[in-house]
Amino acid sequence: MYCTSSTIMSDIERLFSVRDKIVLVTGGSRGIGEMIAGTFVAAGAKVYITARNAAECEATAHRLRGRGDCRALPADVADPQSVRLLVEEIRTREPRLDVLVNNAGIAWGAPLADYPLDAWDRVFAVNVRAMFQLTRDLLPQLKAGATAHDPSRVINLGSVAGVRVVQSTYAYAYGVSKAAVNHLTATLAMELAASHVTVNAVSPGVFPSRMTEMRVGDRTMLEVAGATNPLGRPGSVEDIAGTCLYLASRAGAYLTGAVIPLDGGLHARPIALWEEGEPAAEPAARS
Ligand SMILES: NC(=O)c1ccc[n+]([C@@H]2O[C@H](COP(=O)([O-])OP(=O)(O)OC[C@H]3O[C@@H](n4cnc5c(N)ncnc54)[C@H](OP(=O)(O)O)[C@@H]3O)[C@@H](O)[C@H]2O)c1
Repeated sequence: MYCTSSTIMSDIERLFSVRDKIVLVTGGSRGIGEMIAGTFVAAGAKVYITARNAAECEATAHRLRGRGDCRALPADVADPQSVRLLVEEIRTREPRLDVLVNNAGIAWGAPLADYPLDAWDRVFAVNVRAMFQLTRDLLPQLKAGATAHDPSRVINLGSVAGVRVVQSTYAYAYGVSKAAVNHLTATLAMELAASHVTVNAVSPGVFPSRMTEMRVGDRTMLEVAGATNPLGRPGSVEDIAGTCLYLASRAGAYLTGAVIPLDGGLHARPIALWEEGEPAAEPAARS
């Protein structure tokens, strides 16, 4: 049956609704994860958050409960046994999971010659392996409530650093791990489409968080990054909220395998093929 635009206009709230969805946000205790968890809570979803620091995780859940339903399930997603226990806890509590947000992430910077291999492994364990293990092990819960019309959703947090080389951060493992997130997103999206589970990635530029608190000279990284951003500012809670509501609601049900660049245009910045001031070559005449 065809749906007319006037039908959609009369039901616009339902189009973006996530009310009563069951959501798990990893790394939901602060930063972007807290922004995402707070968005789903405010929109009427039942939200679980996880992070290693149990006190911080509980405090955030307590704070967000002021606006709706939020519970803390502290876990270390880099530890496969801890992930198993987390999955078991969700299974015991819920008949299904509608939205899995793989947001937990870490970065490590060090000059190439000194870059510790155990830091490389840890970055990959949190940023990539945990995403894979959680999606794999929560699949029965994700499939349980999924339909063709309203699929379950996996939302992975990538980074512009997974698409473009970021200068002077020495975060070798980070950028490579985020490129892996994009590839894993596409791989799982194809695998899970028939089960009515969509898998997409959000690729942020610079957002305020503990990860971006560090100082560059006498300015914060956020100030520096805002100044060089094509749209002239860092990302905000509204930016990540709108993208996640789209991805998790009926509005985003037909999108899978995508990487959404949420970076104010950073990913599209021109690359220099010649020195500044050098004239561009005349286009060659074609017959
Ligand atoms: N902020 C940005 O500008 C930016 C840009 C691009 C991409 N991102 C990505 O966005 C995501 C969130 O970043 P953020 O900036 O919000 O970082 P953040 O402020 O450092 O927060 C990271 C969250 O992940 C949790 N976490 C870290 N390791 C964990 C582990 N082993 N097990 C469970 N939870 C763990 C942290 O809690 P505990 O420490 O208590 O475990 C915290 O809740 C990351 O994937 C990051 O790569 C961020």
